[in-house]
Amino acid sequence: MASRNPFTPTFGMVPPFLAGRDRILAEMSRAFEDGLGNPNLSTILIGPRGTGKTALLSCIADEAQEKGWLAVNTVAAEGMLEDIIQQAGKAAARLTNPSPERKISAVSIGQLLSLEWVFERTVEGIWRSRMEALLDQIEAHESGLLITVDEVRVEVEELIQLVSTYQLLIRDHHQVALVMAGLPVDATDLIDDKRVTFLRRARQQYLGRIEDRAIRQAMGATVRSAGKTIEAPALDEAVDASGGFAYLMQLVGYFMWMESGDEPAITLEHARYGIKAAQDDFRRGVIEATYREMSAGDKTFACAMLPDEHGSRLADIAQRMGKTASYASTYKRRLLKMGVIGERAGGTLDFDLPMLKDFLLETGE
Ligand SMILES: Nc1ncnc2c1ncn2[C@@H]1O[C@H](COP(=O)(O)OP(=O)(O)OP(=O)(O)O)[C@@H](O)[C@H]1O
Ligand SMILES: [Mg+2]
Repeated sequence: MASRNPFTPTFGMVPPFLAGRDRILAEMSRAFEDGLGNPNLSTILIGPRGTGKTALLSCIADEAQEKGWLAVNTVAAEGMLEDIIQQAGKAAARLTNPSPERKISAVSIGQLLSLEWVFERTVEGIWRSRMEALLDQIEAHESGLLITVDEVRVEVEELIQLVSTYQLLIRDHHQVALVMAGLPVDATDLIDDKRVTFLRRARQQYLGRIEDRAIRQAMGATVRSAGKTIEAPALDEAVDASGGFAYLMQLVGYFMWMESGDEPAITLEHARYGIKAAQDDFRRGVIEATYREMSAGDKTFACAMLPDEHGSRLADIAQRMGKTASYASTYKRRLLKMGVIGERAGGTLDFDLPMLKDFLLETGE
């Protein structure tokens, strides 16, 4: 009776049930219905490692396709502009010629496009004209084009070109959307870059801590969809151990499922074993790596948060550090950008990375 483990503790993999992304997906779905002019068509997903940016990008692309858009997915790296053209060209060719037996080869895709860009002087100009030619075709079929870009980094020159050109395409009323994703530090560097000030008006979606309620729902549904049940106290502890963090939820689920073997129900005992295994994994893979990336000042700041049970005020942290609030706020910004801490209602700060607090308490500094 043992069916396949339905949890997906693998980076980039779309889980069977996405926890806590209903609102963003609904907003995006609405945007693809509305088309041009809906502000969500230019969106940046910002979240620390393992919060589910790549998975969400995939789901947004699916949503776009359901609403009749074409979607191309790329990662910020040199060569991305050509990759976008190639993918969009293939997708557009399918629109023009939907019958599968008449598959269009790469050569004929080129012929489908107008040739005017060939005479443009700059590479940027060529790319823009090629995109315009493609978009004209796509729009003739009453469709639009979503471009998703994962792992944005300001150092990637072609990303800057993409964003600048995208702005011009929007200005010319093309049905085009750009949804990007990046780590807080990379996304903020990009948004702050003077060459793409346009991005400051893009929608920014922070993938912070997922609510326990949503984790519970997704975990329960994942278990049931694969043919097992989970006892209520087991689910309670599993949710609690996930700390609102997508990757940790998958790890906990994966190990507790494994522990339950051929049995039809996941018990509290299975869950506890699973949680322990997941935590060991998470600690080695994520917590220790993050700790190594923290500077001495970052660590002092984080440790100054430890005495507070429910969020810390900057003034208290500064006082415990024996420094001014403005000195402390440098480290606050750094840790926010790393995704280690997050801001809570009322302006207090708390840990966003699960288990880091316990790790700091244990290491005793
Ligand atoms: N909303 C979600 N609910 C539950 N699990 C999720 C969710 N989103 C992603 N996951 C799972 O979490 C893990 C991390 O997801 P993903 O690779 O998308 O994160 P990421 O933010 O892109 O990470 P990185 O910054 O390292 O690229 C994967 O195991 C994935 O299956
Ligand atoms: Mg990713």
